Amino acid sequence: MSDLNRRLMTRKTDPGETLLESVAAPEPGEGEVVLALDRFSLTTNNITYAAYGDAIGYWRVFPTGRDDYGLMPVWGFADVVASRAEGIAVGARVFGYFPMADTLLVQAEKISKGGFADAAPWRKAVPDIYNRYVLCAADANYDAALENPEALFRPLFITSYTAVDFLREHDFFGAKQVVVSSASSKTAYGAAWCMAGDDVRLIALTGARNRAFVEGLGAYQAVYGYDEIERLPTGVPTLYLDLAGDPDLRRRVHARFGGDLTYDCLVGSTQGDAFPTDDPELVGPRPVFFFAATCLDAHRERGTLRAFYERFFADQRAFFERVVDPAAPWIRIVERQGLDEAAKVVRALADGVSDAAEGAVVRLVR
Ligand SMILES: NC(=O)c1ccc[n+]([C@@H]2O[C@H](COP(=O)([O-])OP(=O)(O)OC[C@H]3O[C@@H](n4cnc5c(N)ncnc54)[C@H](OP(=O)(O)O)[C@@H]3O)[C@@H](O)[C@H]2O)c1
Repeated sequence: MSDLNRRLMTRKTDPGETLLESVAAPEPGEGEVVLALDRFSLTTNNITYAAYGDAIGYWRVFPTGRDDYGLMPVWGFADVVASRAEGIAVGARVFGYFPMADTLLVQAEKISKGGFADAAPWRKAVPDIYNRYVLCAADANYDAALENPEALFRPLFITSYTAVDFLREHDFFGAKQVVVSSASSKTAYGAAWCMAGDDVRLIALTGARNRAFVEGLGAYQAVYGYDEIERLPTGVPTLYLDLAGDPDLRRRVHARFGGDLTYDCLVGSTQGDAFPTDDPELVGPRPVFFFAATCLDAHRERGTLRAFYERFFADQRAFFERVVDPAAPWIRIVERQGLDEAAKVVRALADGVSDAAEGAVVRLVR
C-alpha cells in the first residue's frame, strides 16, 4: 500500500465544494486497526450531514485539523488492511461510517464476533450507531451481491422504516392521506414502500425534473408538483411527511389543509439547511422532528430491539431486492471510480441536479 493516502474534504460553507489532498498513511498503534474504504454511497443525506456539520456535530467525527474544510461522512464497505487489535483479522470486511478517504484509523473497542466500535474521543460527538463497524462475515443478513443497494439504502431505510412504525403506532394521527415531500428521495420512497399495506392514500410532492421518475415508481397513489399545492385534494384528515424541510413549502401545505392537517412529521431537509424556527405564519400543527435513533432507543428500553431487528432485516432485504429487481428496477446503481469522480457527484447532489433514477456508489480502486 502507498505511504500516502488521499482524502476528499468539503468546504464547510459550501457542501458542494471539495478539496483533494494527500496525507501520510496511518500506522496502527496498540489496539488500533486500519480500514481501507472500498465502496461507499453518496446521496443527499450526506449533503445534509455537511449542512448540519456544526449544528449536529458531524464535522467533529473525522477531524481534519482545519477550520475551513471538514470530512463529510459517508456509509460504505471497507477491508481491514492492518490490525493490532485482538479479534479483528486483516482481510475482514466491515460496513460502517467513513470519511471520503483511502483509509481510516480506528481505536477498536467493544470488540465482539459481530463487530467493533471506534473509541476515538472525537466520535462521541454523535450517537453510538454512527461509530459501530459491522463485521460482514458475522452478519447473517450480509450478501456480497447486494453491497451496492446496501451501501445506498441501509443508512436511509432504517429511517423510512422506523418513521412508518412510529406513524403506525399512532394510527397515523388519524390521517387517511399522507402527503410526502421530496417524494423522489430514497428515504421518501422507502417509507412509501413500507406504507403500501396501510389504510392511507399516499400523495407525492416533487419537482418537475423528478416527476416522471416518481410516477414511474408506482409507490404513490398520486403525484403533484410543487407548483400544484393549491390543487391537492382536501377534506380528508392529512399527515405531512416532510423530506424537503422547506419553510415556504411547509407554509403552503399547512395553509392548503388547514384544520385537516393532523400531524407534521419532519424527517429530512433536502431543500433546507436550518432547523425550523417557530414560524408565526404557519397554520396548524408545529413540525415534529423525527429521528430513527430515538425509536431504536425506545425498543432497547422496552426490550423489543431484537424482535424489531428480525422484522426489519427481513423487510429491508425485500426492499433492496425490489429496488434492484432486474425485471423492473426502481433505480440504476452506477459505480464511479475514485475520489475525483466522488467530487463531481457531491457537486451535483449539493446543486440538486443529480438524476433521481440513478444511485451513486463510489469505488476506491487500489
Ligand atoms: N431524520 C433522519 O434520521 C434522516 C435519516 C436519513 C435521511 N434523512 C434525510 O432525508 C433527506 C433525503 O435524503 P436521501 O439521501 O434519501 O435523498 P436522495 O435520494 O439523494 O434524494 C434527494 C431528493 O431531494 C430533492 N433535492 C435534493 N437536492 C435538492 C436541492 N439542492 N434543491 C432542491 N431539491 C433537492 C430532490 O427531490 P424532489 O425533486 O422530489 O424534491 C432529490 O431527488 C435528506 O435531507 C436526509 O438528510 C433524515
